[in-house]
Amino acid sequence: MQRTQVGIIGSGPSGLLLSQLLERAGIESVVLERRSRDYVLGRVRAGVIEQGVVAILREAGVAARLDREGLVHHGVEIAVGEQRQRIDFASHTASLVVYGQTELTKDLMEARAASSAPLFEVEDVVVEGIEGTRPRLRYRHLGTEHALDCDFIAGCDGFHGVSRKAIPANVLKTHERVYPFGWLGVLADAPPVSPELVYARHERGFALCSMRSATRSRCYVQCALDADLAKWSDARFWDELRARLPTALAAGLQDAPSLEKSIAPLRSFVAEPLRHGRLFLAGDAAHIVPPTGAKGLNLAVRDVHQLAQAFVAHYSERRDHLLDGYSATALRRIWRAERFSAWLTSVLHRFPGQTSFDRGMQLAELDQLVNSAAARAAFVEAYTGSQP
Ligand code: APR
Ligand code: PHB
Repeated sequence: MQRTQVGIIGSGPSGLLLSQLLERAGIESVVLERRSRDYVLGRVRAGVIEQGVVAILREAGVAARLDREGLVHHGVEIAVGEQRQRIDFASHTASLVVYGQTELTKDLMEARAASSAPLFEVEDVVVEGIEGTRPRLRYRHLGTEHALDCDFIAGCDGFHGVSRKAIPANVLKTHERVYPFGWLGVLADAPPVSPELVYARHERGFALCSMRSATRSRCYVQCALDADLAKWSDARFWDELRARLPTALAAGLQDAPSLEKSIAPLRSFVAEPLRHGRLFLAGDAAHIVPPTGAKGLNLAVRDVHQLAQAFVAHYSERRDHLLDGYSATALRRIWRAERFSAWLTSVLHRFPGQTSFDRGMQLAELDQLVNSAAARAAFVEAYTGSQP
């Protein structure tokens, strides 16, 4: 029988960072991951990190490369048809760092490998005894059955994981909105069309121009939910993106072969409570935001930071107030990010069956956003995560 203090399911950013923060506080953990290391490192996800989240990553000792290579942004552009407006963060003393989640995962993996690497390719993880004082994780690894006794279990296993399902159905409440479209994303070695991100609302649908470096672009176009990736050649993607951008930006867009191309559905989802007995949910296991606000990774980091502090209070001060308050405190922050992400999604996308009134509402929201100093300030607070 193996034992640890905190058993962590999942080695995405949430699980890796939690085990890293715990180790720095002298708390032992074991991370169990269903996939291979290469699979986890191969996933392409968003790449916009709030300043407050950068501070947590520094505290965890995993921000050296991010500090060297991350691109600091002081503004963002909102395009509506041919109109372009820049929203300045600097006047609100806020900023963001553009650094791919794939790179951050690599940095976290390296930090963990130096001490206690996750166990990859574990099968059939089962969560047991969370209502008692000695929860247990059962799993199979390399054909052998194992059991891991824990003080606590952290469910960091993403939206499709097993941990959330371990909360009894009469306790768990879920709240969800599924959007009637997806995002088709392309990663390519083409210089970004603009030094800052461009979020575009267009009659053909939403588009986003983001980046990973001065020579690598990450761009998206809104697509149908049932879009067939095979029918989206690189040329079709770049033409569609060009058609949705203001002419001056479209003119500077260079076609380049895709390094990665994928379709992601959009969803808003919140589970509550985030704690049941000795099980705690964090990251995508607990909530999903549509990518429009780039909040997914930022929320996950803040969840596990809060959880790590709660475990530290438990082990070093014998105080459980932070563990007891975890769910309510995290949910308040999560709902605020859900609100922002759902709102930004609703004003920038073309919805099937949208009426001319809906269209007028979207345009009025965006007019207010770019032309009212108060609306801009509220946007900057939410987008950069600098709200109190
Ligand atoms: N057993 C073990 N591992 C599992 C299981 C399981 N039953 N189910 C899922 N996992 C693993 C997945 O393979 C994945 O590596 O849990 C991990 C969860 O990682 P993520 O999905 O990246 O979730 P999280 O770490 O919370 O990261 C949140 O990353 O996924 C993005 O959009 C998300 O930006 C957000 C951030
Ligand atoms: C990205 O760079 O992949 C990205 C940026 C901003 C978003 C979503 C994704 O809102």
